[in-house]
Amino acid sequence: MNAGRNFDSEFAAFLRELKARNDIVEVIRSYVSVDRKGGNYWACCPFHHEKTPSFAVNEADQFYHCFGCQESGDVIKFVQEIESTDFMGAVRILAARAKLTVPENNFDTEEAARKKKKRDNMSKILLDTARFYLGNLYSGDERAEVHLQYISGRGLAPSTVKKFGLGASLDFYSLPEYLSGKGYFREDLVDSGVLAANDKGRLYDALGGRLIFPIINAMDEVIGFGGRVLEKTKFGKYKNTKETLLFDKSKTLYNINLLKKLKREQPIKDVIIVEGYMDTISLYQAGFKNVVASMGTSLTKEQARLAKRYTDNVLISYDGDFAGQKADLRGLEILDEAGLHLRVVPMPDGLDPDDVARQGKEAYQKCLDAAMPLIDYRLHSLERSYDLTKTEGKRRFISAALKIVKTAESESVKEELLKKLRDKTNVSYSALERDLQSVKAESADEEQELPKERISEAAAGTDKQLKAKRFILAAKLFSAPYANELDISELPLGDETHIVIAQYIADREKKKERIRPSELFELLDENSAEFNAILDLNYGDKLSGETAERFFFDSVRTLQIQAIDGQISECNAEYEKETDTEKRKEISRRIFELIQKQKNLKRRN
Ligand code: UTP
Ligand code: MN
Repeated sequence: MNAGRNFDSEFAAFLRELKARNDIVEVIRSYVSVDRKGGNYWACCPFHHEKTPSFAVNEADQFYHCFGCQESGDVIKFVQEIESTDFMGAVRILAARAKLTVPENNFDTEEAARKKKKRDNMSKILLDTARFYLGNLYSGDERAEVHLQYISGRGLAPSTVKKFGLGASLDFYSLPEYLSGKGYFREDLVDSGVLAANDKGRLYDALGGRLIFPIINAMDEVIGFGGRVLEKTKFGKYKNTKETLLFDKSKTLYNINLLKKLKREQPIKDVIIVEGYMDTISLYQAGFKNVVASMGTSLTKEQARLAKRYTDNVLISYDGDFAGQKADLRGLEILDEAGLHLRVVPMPDGLDPDDVARQGKEAYQKCLDAAMPLIDYRLHSLERSYDLTKTEGKRRFISAALKIVKTAESESVKEELLKKLRDKTNVSYSALERDLQSVKAESADEEQELPKERISEAAAGTDKQLKAKRFILAAKLFSAPYANELDISELPLGDETHIVIAQYIADREKKKERIRPSELFELLDENSAEFNAILDLNYGDKLSGETAERFFFDSVRTLQIQAIDGQISECNAEYEKETDTEKRKEISRRIFELIQKQKNLKRRN
């Protein structure tokens, strides 16, 4: 939301006043009915469909959290979501409600105000453009014939075309004419990506002549377009709006707008992620409405996080043999990091989801039913590239397959996969198992290539350390009495979210001010999975009682042990560089002391 926004102190004060005058329970009550139960208020979640209330409002700390869909936030975030508006939109609504005046000129830096204006202008242009393309399709203009024919040739019903707002560009120059007629500035027209200038400076439709797929975000704003050529080509079939202030292909999912609507009607068990516009539309038409497209293969971290807002389960339904490509596998690891459970939908050779869906709903359902974990899918697709009837093919297949098996996360999965391999190849289980011992895991040589964000996540430590950090932060954040004494600044924290939270806590403690978790919504992205994992610990008595207290101190020790690990490796590095014998002795004594200290801690853990 507003992470990184530079609030000056006046605006910060205004926000405090705004929140104080807009009690979250009262505000939420004006949209949904709220019941008091136990210490909290409960409602049926307005953001996803449900029959029994799992939407909790915490009056003391002024925030809400839904146990069903994991949405959480403060009063501003609530209004943002329910009114589908942005941060300032919500601030204005709440200001009006409390009869406060938003300090218009002082709060936003001039830069932010200009950006907001720019964004608004662009958004209007994009909407007008979408309407223009849409109008073209049914204008009766004979140049739209080819578009209409193409659409029906691909089996799309008129209702589907309408649902997705498909349109037509008929040439290169009517869009510029239409938009100029509406009084838009040239600069905004170019910046919004819908028009481009040729060498002579003349503006033209960036997607001239194409079939148009509007790309709409979860707030129902048109943010860009995909345009398809109508002729048969293998190359550059699609052209998309360039990257703009509103449109970043890597940060959005095609059809996220309809997915959001769907979620309000029914719980979403899983989301199917496909590659293309047409895959999405075809599946939707066939009744698989829980579909979005990554718009090309490599899934990004942002796209994974976006999907995570709607479901915990993802079905990857990409074309052909994508799993052979390393880059794409990375994309899938990203899903895992976002906390999404992943299965892969196998496709018949050479077909994409659109092709299959056009054979009928049952045909695609059969693929879905065959969805499997990634590692199984990799073995499944590997098999196709070898001739298992020949000895040589079989040997090479086994050797490649064992490399994949080696990467399995658990012994039981390895065992299961070896059994499958045995059945496929008729090689005995024990022989396969022995060969597996001598295989070098395939991913070993990939380690240096890890993208930066993954390295920092690896630096965040083991699962145990991560749990410890989360628990300590939650205990501090929600003022668990046993956490009082701990000075949080002494613990090793690698993750950026953790650092922000720890700094906030340390700052409040220094000033002897009350810790209010809801204030963190101004510092952190409220969609951050990490932040939510920490907030979740506040529910269901996880932070109170003897067990919690014990877990807290165990966690502190876990982190102290980790901190000592760091100190030991620093000493080791120092030792390596040191040439003076006396100093070397001194360093080894320090290392010894650290190891001793660590041992004592471990004994108690
Ligand atoms: P595909 O090449 O798989 O095309 O690209 P498709 O979706 O099956 O296309 P049809 O069925 O021939 O119409 C998948 C997606 O990758 C992006 C688009 O979002 C496309 O839907 N893409 C593809 C581009 O952005 N540019 C391209 O040139 C090709
Ligand atoms: Mn296709």
